[in-house]
Amino acid sequence: MWAELSTCLDLDAGVIVGAPVVRRHLSDLAGCFADRAAYAALRAGEDPLLYTVSGVEAADGAGDLHYGLGVLFPGRVGGEYFMTKGHLHARRDAAEVYIGLRGEGCMLLEDEATGESRMEPLGQGRVVYVPGHAAHRTINTGRVPLVYIGVYPADAGHDYGAIAAKNFRMVVVERDGKPAMVARDGLNIQQ
Ligand SMILES: [Fe+2]
Repeated sequence: MWAELSTCLDLDAGVIVGAPVVRRHLSDLAGCFADRAAYAALRAGEDPLLYTVSGVEAADGAGDLHYGLGVLFPGRVGGEYFMTKGHLHARRDAAEVYIGLRGEGCMLLEDEATGESRMEPLGQGRVVYVPGHAAHRTINTGRVPLVYIGVYPADAGHDYGAIAAKNFRMVVVERDGKPAMVARDGLNIQQ
């Protein structure tokens, strides 16, 4: 059992060797991006692949860990960078550690109770600690794929519904060539 939980990363292919891969396209992120017109325009063409996650989730005992390798491709929808759906953990107090392996990016964290938001760098060599009760989303602010690992309790679970219902308060957009966290309500984009 333990042997199959120790794996090998193929960073060029963007996978954990032997692990299943989930692929998320632009169409899977309907409602996530602030600029609906820019989203619709991009959707009218192709349906680009935004990110993949390969995960090792075989251990499910008390105290076990799961981990996944994410590859988030570069691009933008309007001024907003390509990003993941984002989620809370079903077990709200479950924390997670993200480790940046390649590329440039950040994580958007939002406390579920207070709405307090933070933008934490997640590039190569950066580690982001995601505390419990924090919605989290990964964002590629660079020009090459952002590759990272996330490690989380086996019983954390993923709650995408809470984010889909109200989204994050803040968005990360390019301002003067650099990523900036701004209020979604203040974007002044025609919805
Ligand atoms: Fe998570």
